[in-house]
Amino acid sequence: MIHNKEAESEAWFYGFTRTVSAGLAHLISVAFPAFIAFFSRPGTSWFSWHPFLMTVAFGFLMTEAILLFSPHGSLIKRFSHKTKARVHWILQSLCGACAVLGLAAISYNKHLNGKAHFTSWHGLLGLITVCVVCVQSLAAVPLIYHSLAKGWSLAKLKRYHAASGLVTFLLGSTSLLLGLSSSWFTASVGGYAWFLAAACPALSAVVIMNQVSSAYIAKKRLQS
Ligand code: HEM
Repeated sequence: MIHNKEAESEAWFYGFTRTVSAGLAHLISVAFPAFIAFFSRPGTSWFSWHPFLMTVAFGFLMTEAILLFSPHGSLIKRFSHKTKARVHWILQSLCGACAVLGLAAISYNKHLNGKAHFTSWHGLLGLITVCVVCVQSLAAVPLIYHSLAKGWSLAKLKRYHAASGLVTFLLGSTSLLLGLSSSWFTASVGGYAWFLAAACPALSAVVIMNQVSSAYIAKKRLQS
């Protein structure tokens, strides 16, 4: 009886922390792009579109596209899995489009200013991230049209998609962090405000890592 009560309050506590952390991730997904937009003022130059589109792509769209599967923090918790999957691929397609446009904006800006391309760690990892997003999106097509991947079970495809999706998300978070370390950003934002900005992709990454790994562990437990 006592054990039961203990297990119950433990489960409640875990559920509560998961809900709070997902809530925090939702808040960050809106506040972080808004914060960056405030500094970059999208539309004022070709460059200004780059930080804005990239934070919208990775900070908002990709974060929300994964959070919607969270059993504790999904904004569309009560909808069917099929609907969630549809909203997920729509958000991810928008994320891919924003990422490609963000890359085009910075590349064109560099071309206009006669600057060399992909010379920083941020630029190099950023380029890899955008390529990985495109590959990850293309590789997800057989999840909708299963006949495209003969010999692969849907369960296996889903597991690989979740694992590689997590890697893609972490690449995006690292590129964001490196972008925040650029001389452009550190020249206008320093001290506590910089750490607050850097905490945004870091905290979201922790929440998403936790969500994806818990879902995987739960499935493994069901299988064994
Ligand atoms: C996941 C998000 C991001 C990706 C994938 C990304 C990607 C890239 C790429 C590929 C370049 C090099 C383009 C070229 O050399 O032609 C670049 C440059 C740049 N990015 Fe980002 N970016 C991201 C987020 C950000 C953010 C949030 C900021 C600012 C807060 C930022 C600031 C810059 C700056 C200042 C440059 C020019 C200097 C340099 O090449 O390092 N980026 N980015």
